[in-house]
Amino acid sequence: MKFWSNITKSLTPYVPGEQLNETDIVKLNTNENPFPPSPKVLESIQDAIGSQLKKYPDPESTKLKDAIGDFYKIESENVFVGNGSDEVLAHVFMAFFKDKKLYFPNITYSFYPVYCGLYEIDYQPISLNYKFQMETEDYLGLDGNIIFPNPNAPTGIEVELSTIEEILIKNPDNLVVVDEAYVDFGGKSAVELIGKYKNLLIVQTFSKSRSLAGMRVGFAIGDTELIEGLVRVKDSFNSYPLDRLAQAAGEAAIKDREYFEYTCSEIIKNREWTVAELEKRGIEVLPSTANFIFAKVENAENIYAELKSRKVLVRYFKKPLINSYLRISIGTKEEMEKLIKNIDQIMGV
Ligand SMILES: Cc1ncc(COP(=O)(O)O)c(C=O)c1O
Repeated sequence: MKFWSNITKSLTPYVPGEQLNETDIVKLNTNENPFPPSPKVLESIQDAIGSQLKKYPDPESTKLKDAIGDFYKIESENVFVGNGSDEVLAHVFMAFFKDKKLYFPNITYSFYPVYCGLYEIDYQPISLNYKFQMETEDYLGLDGNIIFPNPNAPTGIEVELSTIEEILIKNPDNLVVVDEAYVDFGGKSAVELIGKYKNLLIVQTFSKSRSLAGMRVGFAIGDTELIEGLVRVKDSFNSYPLDRLAQAAGEAAIKDREYFEYTCSEIIKNREWTVAELEKRGIEVLPSTANFIFAKVENAENIYAELKSRKVLVRYFKKPLINSYLRISIGTKEEMEKLIKNIDQIMGV
């Protein structure tokens, strides 16, 4: 610690969900996709493993950006890619948020305050209402930049696109960043607003809806000036953030629309089934358009521990306002059946 700088001493790092090395566990704690990546991704990684690995990858990830552009019918100059959306977010905080206050909901992705600590950004959480929703008026005419996930994490609650548009219009001098990590599971992306609002930046990931959490691929979509700002930060930090395999995997994943649509729709079905089963048992579940649900249970911490001892891992946040909830990622039908069976056994149904 003798050699730590003052900023290092002051950090409160993010604590990722547990990654247990057991294969027989029902892992519903970090919102991964229960399906493997598209078979085309695996083929494309095989092709990329060859003599080319001795060479540096394309620093611009050109083919991957083109493929993202094709998917969303936007120009690739409006796309930025990074090593997971966490890295993209880190660059966003560094590139745009340092000079004024940053606003985000008081219950949200817990990495946001961590980046504020790292980059010494002044931030102010805005309370959600009693239904865990953002109150639109709280976000209009602010004196600082804004970031929120849509749908929110860990609640799964979605904000309407019309609300996002109102926030953009009423904050012309503030950047509004929408973190769409979970948008593909029934939410509506704000990508259609790109081009209309220069103060909008969207961040997405391949970790959830494209089953590539292990590859670390994330991206941002926005006005070219914003993308240029991100590239400046990236090239001052790591000019090759995506290795050859990640670029190949990402490109193949976004090109396989059919597989993406199929796996997302299966997860949505499993989510609706799980919600119905929990509700039958009197358990309240917040409305979710994500690949996870937030369920209110008595003695949440005990239930979390009981489930863990039965090899079903969910996420419990020992934090004010949300400590009576469990966040449960949506897995395969079989995994969700195991969850319900174990809940029944624990609750003595
Ligand atoms: C809201 C939100 N944004 C971003 C991320 C980061 O995802 P990744 O770094 O895997 O792209 C997560 C991860 O769980 C998340 O919940």
